[in-house]
Amino acid sequence: MKLTIIGTGYVGLVTGACFAEVGHEVICVDNDAAKVRMLRGGGIPIYEPGLEELVNKNAASGRLTFTDSTAEGVQRSQVVFIAVPTPPQPDGSVDMSYIERVARDIAAAVTEYKIVVDKSTVPVKTGDKVAETIRRYCKAKVDLDVVSNPEFLREGFAVGDLMKPDRIVIGVRSQRPVAAMKEIYTPFQAPIIVTDINSAELIKHAANSFLALKISYINAIAAICEAAGANVQEVADGIGLDERIGRRFLNAGIGFGGSCFPKDLSAFIKIAEQIGCDFKLLKEVQRINADQMERFVKKITDTLWVLKDKTIGVLGLAFKQNTDDVRSSPAIELCQKLLKEGARLRVHDPKAMEKARAILPEGPNVTYVGDMNAVADGCDALVVATEWEEFKKLDLERAYESLAHPILFDGRNLFVPAEMEKLGWIYKSVGR
Ligand code: UGA
Repeated sequence: MKLTIIGTGYVGLVTGACFAEVGHEVICVDNDAAKVRMLRGGGIPIYEPGLEELVNKNAASGRLTFTDSTAEGVQRSQVVFIAVPTPPQPDGSVDMSYIERVARDIAAAVTEYKIVVDKSTVPVKTGDKVAETIRRYCKAKVDLDVVSNPEFLREGFAVGDLMKPDRIVIGVRSQRPVAAMKEIYTPFQAPIIVTDINSAELIKHAANSFLALKISYINAIAAICEAAGANVQEVADGIGLDERIGRRFLNAGIGFGGSCFPKDLSAFIKIAEQIGCDFKLLKEVQRINADQMERFVKKITDTLWVLKDKTIGVLGLAFKQNTDDVRSSPAIELCQKLLKEGARLRVHDPKAMEKARAILPEGPNVTYVGDMNAVADGCDALVVATEWEEFKKLDLERAYESLAHPILFDGRNLFVPAEMEKLGWIYKSVGR
């Protein structure tokens, strides 16, 4: 089918590439002309495993093209996906201006029946607003259907998640767009759930909030494990084998971050408030997440006492592994807290150093180190802040020799406590 995706961020670009990969003809639209030039030239603005190959392969075959003209995208396709940002506002609510702008652009360009699909994460009832806006601004008075089709991909695993989704959610007002939507997704061989639009929109916020809740739950258990002398990983294994609970998203650490969970939790709390519900449970999820960071910083200050004039090596800046994304990264927040205590930092990340420099500038107190094994040089202690698999291969012997004292604060539980202690490390992790 001919499909248009408006917005070439994480969701839009990966969706476009995967749709092209299964045989659809895809036009990706972005109003940033420089980005479009970059994509046309084979450049990829984000790091996402497997994405560059997929984009270049499908661009070369002609199934994936790029334009900065919304009108062109709308006119050439039967189905138009909206995948533009919905960033948070200072009060926790969602900035809907990008979606509203796109709705007006679609209204101006449309001349015949289209299916307009919202893929961005949006508050419940956005579908109604999009339909109303297009109707209001469309001079041609064209009939069209608005569909909600939330995306569940994780950064760092986006291509895999999109090619093999757990489920596809299609929220509709009438049955008319259902057949076309099913045709788009048939190649992905996933269960398809058809709901009303409000339910589809809520599914996305409810799913992300539940996953964040799961992480805060295990982090709360981690605090109890520390006080009681138990091991949170063993507890997570023990409860996770119960299929009703499941082991995934039960890894304790320094808390969740990224561009989705913190934002979606605040938004969901706000949305609930606006419709008269006080979602106290999610406020507690946020509180536990904030506490988790404080408890970890306290662990560092309890051990090192005064941080002023001490140098700490920090492994990890991205908000999680396999991404260069540093938006709302717990690792960056941790760095900022350590700097505030007066520490100097030597930092490293396999992919996120370039993006991190913009919010954690290099200077007398922050040194970016290209080789993870050189981070410990001249440091008083080492911290693991992001769960990159490759940190498990750190040259521990070299780090042991380089550090003033062999102290490792493992905020992601990457190493095995008994092994670290056998090697002579002062090793502090989370909930173990
Ligand atoms: C999340 C959801 O997992 C996706 O399903 C959703 O589509 C996406 O948000 C979105 O709304 O676009 P993402 O933000 O890419 O995906 O990252 P996650 O893998 O969910 O991780 C989020 C944070 O939780 C990271 O900081 C990670 O380190 C942390 N985390 C994750 C834990 O602390 N423990 C865990 O067990 C799992």
